[in-house]
Amino acid sequence: MKRLPIGILGSGKGSNCRVILERIHSGELAAEARLVVSDVLDAPILDIAREFGVANVYLPPGRFRTRLEPEIEKQLVTMLRDAEVELVVLAGFMRVLHEPMLKAFSRHIINIHPSLLPKFPGLEAWKQALAAGEGTTGCTVHYVDEKIDHGQILAQREVTILPNDTSESLHARIQALEHELYPAVIAALCQKYGQENL
Ligand code: GRF
Repeated sequence: MKRLPIGILGSGKGSNCRVILERIHSGELAAEARLVVSDVLDAPILDIAREFGVANVYLPPGRFRTRLEPEIEKQLVTMLRDAEVELVVLAGFMRVLHEPMLKAFSRHIINIHPSLLPKFPGLEAWKQALAAGEGTTGCTVHYVDEKIDHGQILAQREVTILPNDTSESLHARIQALEHELYPAVIAALCQKYGQENL
């Protein structure tokens, strides 16, 4: 079967990246990790890529805090295209993507977010759910568009908020579910890619 060439973008600890690379390594995911890119020089996600022997790049983000400088975003497109990436997987990438990436990889960029979107986009979504007194929250995988944590939803998983939950305990349960949900969605996309195109 054709293997889906993916590129993973992240800014942090990379636990989602790790499970994805593990599943590829074990043969459960018919994908091929072509490149891991981070906007943070010492991000653990780059160490994880090295551990799995995956090409990895630090991309200096430029002057802005919440986005890449446009010229740098164009470089990112070139890097991913040179690596023949078909699906861009955001795994804790803390910058909003704009036209260069969205145009080049239209409907070929996915993200995972720790809430049941459209509820609680933005930072520390599990804290937002706790503060709002919700009974359930969860995680969502969605296609990426120009708005933050927005775009067609591919799949969601629910987590019950327990009376004694702290933000740490709730976040840990959400992350455990993310580690099931993200590979499952990517597996479905791999299957689609195996039969036709994405
Ligand atoms: C995840 O919780 C994801 O929902 C959010 O960023 C976090 C990344 O975690 N978008 P990790 O770096 O994969 O551990």
